[in-house]
Amino acid sequence: LVAPSALFGASRPNSAGFDLTDEETLSRIYAARELAIPDAMPLTVSEPTGRMQDVLNPATGENIAKVLMVDAATATRAIDDARIWDAPAAERAEVLRRAADLYEQHYGAIFAILAREGGKALPDAVAELREAVDFLRYYATEGETCTDAPRGIWGAISPWNFPLAIFTGQIAAALMAGNAVIAKPAEHTPVIAARAVALLHQAGVPKAALQLLPGRGSVVGTALTSDPRVAGLVFTGSTATAQTIARTMAANLAPGTPLIAETGGLNAMIVDSTALPEQAVRDIVNSAFRSAGQRCSALRCLYVQEDIAPHLITMIKGAMDELRLGDPWDLATDVGPVIDPAAQGEIADYIAANAGRILHRLAVPSPGCFIPPTMLQVSGINDLEREVFGPVLHVATFRGEQLDQVIADINARGFGLTFGLHTRIDSRVQEVSDAIHAGNIYVNRNQIGAVVGSQPFGGEGLSGTGPKAGGPRYVPRFFAPATASASV
Ligand code: NAD
Ligand code: ALA
Repeated sequence: LVAPSALFGASRPNSAGFDLTDEETLSRIYAARELAIPDAMPLTVSEPTGRMQDVLNPATGENIAKVLMVDAATATRAIDDARIWDAPAAERAEVLRRAADLYEQHYGAIFAILAREGGKALPDAVAELREAVDFLRYYATEGETCTDAPRGIWGAISPWNFPLAIFTGQIAAALMAGNAVIAKPAEHTPVIAARAVALLHQAGVPKAALQLLPGRGSVVGTALTSDPRVAGLVFTGSTATAQTIARTMAANLAPGTPLIAETGGLNAMIVDSTALPEQAVRDIVNSAFRSAGQRCSALRCLYVQEDIAPHLITMIKGAMDELRLGDPWDLATDVGPVIDPAAQGEIADYIAANAGRILHRLAVPSPGCFIPPTMLQVSGINDLEREVFGPVLHVATFRGEQLDQVIADINARGFGLTFGLHTRIDSRVQEVSDAIHAGNIYVNRNQIGAVVGSQPFGGEGLSGTGPKAGGPRYVPRFFAPATASASV
């Protein structure tokens, strides 16, 4: 094993974090809860047109803001206006570092928006802000010595489940390579995106180099992925959307236009009979239910060796009973809401259709878009029709001699994002890690929360194209090949 410091040296990020036991920090955070959320968007395009949309708090249904969702004509005008950022790399790096400092200074408002717009439980909001800050600092360091040319205009399309960290990471990498970026946040989370862009502009990113386009995927997303002036596209979201984008790009953009896509997963964990049960249970519950299961990295299918299964499943039920659902803003909350009533309905329907398989389920607070953490019994990963993006854990058992078949079944599904293994057999760690197709393999720990700069994150197969976010190969992908030069 190579120590992360040997791999990443001085470029390791270092977000300071927040001490939630400190009275002053807590009082600033709690004061921020009542902040009015402005409707204004930092749109740089002149006379944007579109239609107004209400932004709703998924925990309460409260209408927190009204934002303009722009139309395709506005997206085209934003592409007209885009200009690469032709400052020296060292200056760009300084600006991104300044933005990281501003993000940290505005933590109260950022946590409040993440909780009220995205339903993020406070500890998840803290982790998300730290990840965004890490991306800014890490990519600044990774890109500041590069002298290659930018590609031109990048479209950056992001999901609602990491509406600050992933949104910021995409933008920071593209900007560090000197490109112009047009960022389209998810429909559910335009407000945190607006706050981030305002802070990036305040730090010194030129407005023509970073434009925000809140809008629908089918409208603004399609406009960005079909305009031949777009030189690269970075996307995080579902596998199905990535496939649509790839087809649209192939039909409209120059051959070879890069698409960096980070997508979904059917993530598995194997727990063998030598595992430490207490540790495994803690990691299973965290991996499956933290962030209400709305992480691409979340555990979806757990395989437990038959000999320990009854005991381990009883322990998982006990640990689930300790989870508290409710107000994301309450520090005692473990599981917040899912993102909207449509997601709630879809996951609830899935659980209802699998009612005969329920091993354990919590009660739901009402009202709000809550789904109670649920454990379903399955015979294996082939029983999972698709990625269910919520707090639903599927559990299968296996006999020792079936381990190779379990691995083959997991690989055969074609995804390859995260994988977890709990075992105390050293040789098995190597054997299983070699055999499993997954971008991120975690041994004897949970399988969520990759740390920028230490654990580059990204999948293979249906889970993504690479390069991994938060790793040394990411920023270089945003530059033009050595012989080409940018034209905007
Ligand atoms: P989504 O695919 O529905 O939407 C993602 C983004 O794509 C949004 O901004 C959306 O507006 C846009 N979009 C939708 N249709 C489009 C189109 N035709 N053209 C262009 N853009 C379009 O995903 P989501 O529901 O926002 O996020 C959840 C999904 O994201 C899950 O599948 C999850 O696993 C995945 N995800 C993956 C990672 C990763 O790093 N691998 C991280 C987070 C989320
Ligand atoms: N990077 C996020 C995680 O590792 C998705 O959970």
